[in-house]
Amino acid sequence: MITKSQENQLIRWFHQYVKTFRFKDIHFQRNIDLKYEHILKVRDAIMEIALSEKLGSHQVRLASIMALFHDIGRFKQYSIYRTFSDRKSENHACLGLQELKNHEVLNILEFGDRSLIETAIGNHNRKEICAQTTGEALFYSRLLRDADKIDIWRIVTDYYEDPEAETNEALQLDLPDTAEYNSEILRQVEKGKSIRMEDMTTLNDFKLLQIGWVFDLSYTKSLEIVKQKHYMERLFAVLPDEDPISQLQQNILDYLDSKIGHCRNG
Ligand SMILES: [Fe+2]
Repeated sequence: MITKSQENQLIRWFHQYVKTFRFKDIHFQRNIDLKYEHILKVRDAIMEIALSEKLGSHQVRLASIMALFHDIGRFKQYSIYRTFSDRKSENHACLGLQELKNHEVLNILEFGDRSLIETAIGNHNRKEICAQTTGEALFYSRLLRDADKIDIWRIVTDYYEDPEAETNEALQLDLPDTAEYNSEILRQVEKGKSIRMEDMTTLNDFKLLQIGWVFDLSYTKSLEIVKQKHYMERLFAVLPDEDPISQLQQNILDYLDSKIGHCRNG
């Protein structure tokens, strides 16, 4: 069982840890702040989904801790490599798990809870959840992946829509914002297949990859949030307005409606 006081202790550690990453350069600091805010919003999102799934207080705490630590590796990653691109640096989930271990952060928890948290963090940024993950670990891994995606859509749609926004290489994973896109990526998204990061060469490819995440969502609440916030429409609005992209948009919106309707009715 995770107590309220254990959860508070972990929250305090998190805030103290983040405070150790301070940059004089405002661009660097902005990226650190962005991740800090992202983590807190993922925590809000995971709790919203957890409550809609009628989880008990222990389970909601577990989910909240996973969210709190899922991107803890981002701070060290950025301070060492000045990028959020795992390809150009190292896997931030593994880096985070290593940090948690080095600081013995999760040692106050029971082994089973610790292991669920570690598995969910390890799975959160994988193309697909590891095939060996089953049962409760799979349930929480899905929960964290849904919440993470929901908040990434918030960040990127705000960014893409802001005409005043300075180019943020960290958000664009250093990809160029040109008019091209890879039609193979579009075909893969159409088939509901997940995209490999290494196949992207432009920002439009990244937008398509982010659209394709909708097929990875597991919980009805997550699908409802995407629909309510118009994340799909907003991502398509910043892609070339032409076929086959417009066709894909229609298919994705139909998919969302049918999944939501199906879950609610069945
Ligand atoms: Fe992450």
